[in-house]
Amino acid sequence: MSSLPDSTLRWGIIATGNIAASMAAALHRVPEAEIVAVASRSMEAAESFGSSWDIPRRYDSYAAMVGDDDVDVVYVATPHAYHHENVVAALRAGKHVLCEKPLTLNAAQAAECAALARAQGLFLMEAVWMRFFPAITRLVAVVGDGAVGEVELLVADFCLDVPFDPTHRLYNLDLGGGALLDLGVYPLSFATMLLGAPQTVEGRARVGATGVDETNSVTLTFASGAIAQLASSCRSYKPHTAHIIGREGRIEVPDFFHPGGFVIHRHGGREEVRVPAWGNGYVHEVEEVHRCIRAGLTESPVLPLAETVATMELMDELRRDWGVVYPGEAGLPGD
Ligand SMILES: NC(=O)c1ccc[n+]([C@@H]2O[C@H](COP(=O)([O-])OP(=O)(O)OC[C@H]3O[C@@H](n4cnc5c(N)ncnc54)[C@H](OP(=O)(O)O)[C@@H]3O)[C@@H](O)[C@H]2O)c1
Repeated sequence: MSSLPDSTLRWGIIATGNIAASMAAALHRVPEAEIVAVASRSMEAAESFGSSWDIPRRYDSYAAMVGDDDVDVVYVATPHAYHHENVVAALRAGKHVLCEKPLTLNAAQAAECAALARAQGLFLMEAVWMRFFPAITRLVAVVGDGAVGEVELLVADFCLDVPFDPTHRLYNLDLGGGALLDLGVYPLSFATMLLGAPQTVEGRARVGATGVDETNSVTLTFASGAIAQLASSCRSYKPHTAHIIGREGRIEVPDFFHPGGFVIHRHGGREEVRVPAWGNGYVHEVEEVHRCIRAGLTESPVLPLAETVATMELMDELRRDWGVVYPGEAGLPGD
């Protein structure tokens, strides 16, 4: 490992599921990233993932991997219910952390992780990959410059048709299931990214047989007068086009959580803005982690920890109204 250039960050991956593989592919495309370790609950899975992605050190315990002195950054890719425990263990072991969304199950856990990262002087970020797409960076600038005037209405939904399986992480209460935390986090993040913190939040959900919200609708209102109408579902598909409707025009953002551009409609004209992503799109958040750590930052200015905690607070409030409580949660604020 000592032959690596000084600027290299050595990554360790916790878990070997779907998103861990997408991230391994992205890490291989970033010249200053080196995947040195992977941990799984089983040695067989660690060996298999390690062979597929050319990772030299393979662990059958997450705890053992975070203790590896050759790991600089830990990427957490377990189901949501384990994020808090995995993040705390990695930070306590002195590692920087990129953790999959949602950062934790609730705001109290997220705030604890944020405080620990700050106290340890370590970098921590929730892996909302959307926020680092070049098209999103451009969109934020264009809306901020008033391309469509003052925003009146923002509409964004993330609806997927995932066959019902009570053991799947989306339907399993024990794993932190439900559309809101898994999918709804994207439209919420999209709205607060463009409109700031909301003044009010309210929503409705259909809670399924396993106790998780399978379909929901959420309305946010903002001090500016803008309204965001958001939805998420794991029971039904809808194209993922977001709409930003201003007083002087509107913007359509196809695949808003991983866009390659957007279309501005204004004064009877149509302008297509193409800003392609690189690789599978996860590269951009990896580059942000590297940029921040190199600059000595403990959080990303693009997605600060306070915003992650604030989004978790919104989701806590919605879940409290819907009666969706995860095992081990003593209750949610306001109960
Ligand atoms: N950013 C994105 O685009 C994106 C996309 C999909 C998912 N995600 C997030 O990534 C996380 C994982 O999602 P995924 O789709 O990768 O899930 P997945 O395919 O089910 O993989 C999760 C992995 O977590 C580990 N794990 C630990 N305890 C587990 C348990 N009790 N049950 C099942 N798995 C357990 C397993 O790895 P080992 O057996 O190796 O320990 C498993 O392979 C979620 O928090 C999700 O929100 C993000």
